[in-house]
Amino acid sequence: MGHHESNYEPKWAIAKWFDERLPVYRMMSDQFITFPTPRNLNYWWTMGMVLFFFLVIQLITGIILTMHYIPHEDMAFNSVEHIMRDVNWGWLLRYMHMNGASFFFIAVYIHILRGIYYGSYKAPREVLWLVGVVIYILMMAAAFMGYVLPWGQMSFWGATVITNLFSAIPLVGDYITQWFWGAYAVSQPTLNRFLSLHYLVPMLLTVFVLIHVWALHVVGSNNPEGLDVKSSDDTLPFHPYFTMKDMFMAIVFLTIYAFFVFFMSNYMGEPDNYIRANPMVTPPHIVPEWYFLPFYAILRAIPDKLGGVIAMFGSIMVVAALPWLDRNPIRSLRYRPRARFFFAGFVVTAMLLGFLGAKPAEGWYVTASRILTLYWFVYFLVILPLLSKMETTNRHMPGSITDAVLGHHGVIPEAKQ
Ligand code: HEM
Repeated sequence: MGHHESNYEPKWAIAKWFDERLPVYRMMSDQFITFPTPRNLNYWWTMGMVLFFFLVIQLITGIILTMHYIPHEDMAFNSVEHIMRDVNWGWLLRYMHMNGASFFFIAVYIHILRGIYYGSYKAPREVLWLVGVVIYILMMAAAFMGYVLPWGQMSFWGATVITNLFSAIPLVGDYITQWFWGAYAVSQPTLNRFLSLHYLVPMLLTVFVLIHVWALHVVGSNNPEGLDVKSSDDTLPFHPYFTMKDMFMAIVFLTIYAFFVFFMSNYMGEPDNYIRANPMVTPPHIVPEWYFLPFYAILRAIPDKLGGVIAMFGSIMVVAALPWLDRNPIRSLRYRPRARFFFAGFVVTAMLLGFLGAKPAEGWYVTASRILTLYWFVYFLVILPLLSKMETTNRHMPGSITDAVLGHHGVIPEAKQ
């Protein structure tokens, strides 16, 4: 993992005995207690820990929910109601899991935008970034399949719309879709395999999170200045400085989450999903969960089905390719005013696409979605590569992290007086 000298000293004889055989406590100490961390990290760097908390919440609540859930067309919907009404604390487990998914996505979107703003994807953190994108795709797969399990109207029709996208693949599309369903429509085999995969994917995701943290600890954190760590002055031990900062933000997040779980339990959900799945009745509007809306808007912005599917997957692939699209040597957008301007445009675009994804695909909604989809791709494929060449110097950059913390000149401001 990280390349700093281990200064772990086992205190008891038994700890020393154990350390010589399996130095797991040494590893924890080196990686999470004394780990040298840039001293200028701000609150945007706390999302990783918040994500970790939500991952644990989702795993625990999910494992217990599965003990009472029945993956059968005729029983799934009722089994969820049974969890809500009859199982001890079942309502709490379900609302925690439902809202936990949304909060997981809120945190991951902040985490990704932080990475883009501060250039955290640039060398030497490309692998860390790619592992992050894999995690994000796994999160989307898990959330999509989980949403199908309650077997409500939106579960069924959402699954039908999204799985049908595969039928856009030329020649083999229909075959692949039916293979995916295990039948000729979304039905019993589909539900059963979705439960199986909904359990498997988060386990894979957990493995990738460990790899993510490993990759992070090999190269160390980036920081708001985007400068490399030059000396030990630039860092502080992870504990207590960043454990406390992370805990503070985790408590803020968990408090807001608790408010949603207890008082606005269904605010982020769709009322239609409390109607049992009915293959004979299509709901008037089929909308995915909020975190998929920007991609849903991109999908529907393109008039051709295959084109829409390619654009939707492409919109994530361009994010994966960021380290090779933005070659500018300056990492942090603090020192790149032009890139900052276009980044703000990207954030607004993503939000507006989210708004449009929830609207019917008609009239000016479609026109606006097309313009915004165009900006999404132009931002990654044209603007960032161009700015790589056009915005490469900044006189105001401090010489080091410590210089920046102490007021740019390496002199403590008070000491100047
Ligand atoms: C389950 C989801 C995830 C977990 C638990 C997780 C965890 C973490 C943790 C603990 C850190 C260090 C603390 C921090 O910088 O916030 C981190 C850093 C990072 N993560 Fe994630 N992450 C997740 C998803 C993602 C995704 C989806 C991406 C990008 C697509 C990503 C990209 C990064 C990058 C680039 C860094 C380094 C940031 C820096 O040093 O400036 N992560 N992650």
